[in-house]
Amino acid sequence: MSDDVDATVRAHHLVIVANRLPIHDVDGEWRRSPGGLVSAMLGVLRSRTGAWVGWNGKLDQTEDDLALPTIQEIDGADLVSVPLSSDEFSHYYEGVANGALWPLFHDAIRESTFDADSWVTYREVNRRFATATARSAAPGATAWIHDYHLLLVPAMLREIRPDLVIGFFLHIPFPPQELFMRMPWREEILRGMLGADLVGFQRSVGAENFVALCRRLLGVEADHDQVHSEDDRRVRVGAFPISIDVHEIEQLARRPDIGARAVEIRERLGNPTTVFLGVDRLDYTKGIDLRLISFGSLLRAHTDTTSTPQSAPIVLVQVAVPGRQGVESYVEERRTVEQLVGSVNGEHAAIGYPVVHYIRRGLTLEELVPLYLAADIMLVTPRRDGMNLVAKEFVAARLHDRGVLILSEFAGAADELTDAILVNPHDPDAVEMAMDMALTMDPDEVEHRMSNMRKVVTTHDVHEWARTFLCDLTETGDDG
Ligand code: F6P
Repeated sequence: MSDDVDATVRAHHLVIVANRLPIHDVDGEWRRSPGGLVSAMLGVLRSRTGAWVGWNGKLDQTEDDLALPTIQEIDGADLVSVPLSSDEFSHYYEGVANGALWPLFHDAIRESTFDADSWVTYREVNRRFATATARSAAPGATAWIHDYHLLLVPAMLREIRPDLVIGFFLHIPFPPQELFMRMPWREEILRGMLGADLVGFQRSVGAENFVALCRRLLGVEADHDQVHSEDDRRVRVGAFPISIDVHEIEQLARRPDIGARAVEIRERLGNPTTVFLGVDRLDYTKGIDLRLISFGSLLRAHTDTTSTPQSAPIVLVQVAVPGRQGVESYVEERRTVEQLVGSVNGEHAAIGYPVVHYIRRGLTLEELVPLYLAADIMLVTPRRDGMNLVAKEFVAARLHDRGVLILSEFAGAADELTDAILVNPHDPDAVEMAMDMALTMDPDEVEHRMSNMRKVVTTHDVHEWARTFLCDLTETGDDG
């Protein structure tokens, strides 16, 4: 790389690094991706001459693209595209990230596959992200690396650019020792993460697991909020529960056309007495299958309320957003969920009155908010989840403090949304009882609980989350 290129590229004071860039291709045109994280990150990037380093979602781009990142611009932030080949995608993203790390970090709900060749690719791709970041950052800049795809980037980046202040945030759970010990590359992962100055987790239990593992596997000194790294640095560790863009959701929830759409949805469902709602990625961690089984049992217990030829008094709308279909366990999960939808409808529906309305596609926030408003009871029952932002979005949309949230104890959001009906999703009877409790809850109690949850969500949104992390990171950098 010539000095000229170096000088132009290295102009950014803040660099966000994530597997995906905040854009996606719609019929040949780049669009900004939805989501609170994207708006929070672009917000901080705009205010600090920033860049976002990530993959643009396209595979096997030309030789030139593979050799050098291309730069585009969105909302005042530069985008630095890290190319991936199909083979790299299959080893790095499907093989290691979603075939080994994702299941293991989610309580080993599915068996992980540990493939040494895939790990070599994971390491190479992480190196590519580190190099692209190193090229983009101004002297002394801050780099904020995100998630389980890039666990090795902090240390790789530090090696190339020791002048940078480096933060790492893990969006998914960090597992307990017994599970992490299964990982063949366990020490390398910890060393990779310890390249950061600040390592953030969704929950304090994740931070505790990490600290204990650093002590056990690397033999370093560590206490609850810091680890003394092998290269003699103080690495701060802490919990930073992520949130949503509350303002964006509230604005949508106030729009008359969105309210009218919610009314229309209930009409189209046949004006049921109760609408249950689930909105999830089609992922085995989300427990959609368990939820459908419990919903079937609920209907069986309420024979008086199952569909008659004229109506379906209790319905479930389940949105399942497909993804990762190259990974076998996701294909299996789709099969299981769709069989269950068929089975529950087969048992309880009447002609023209399904009890489960299943939508397998991604919805925009403009389509989701009317659903949040149309629902009476939101089901967020993952087997394990880093946070679960759907739970927070539902709460933010309920401007009039009505609606019940049934929330898994195993979602990060359960630490904050303690006024939800908290439930063990692995216990089908408990989920059914929670649904029953929601159906019969006194309206004053419904209001009281929702109002408490709204206070929690509205006082801690994603912009505040980003500011807090960056502020702690800057202080950490100053210490060093
Ligand atoms: O929950 C972890 C996460 O990486 C999110 O940050 C992201 O929105 C989601 O999974 C989608 O993952 P993918 O990039 O595999 O579609």
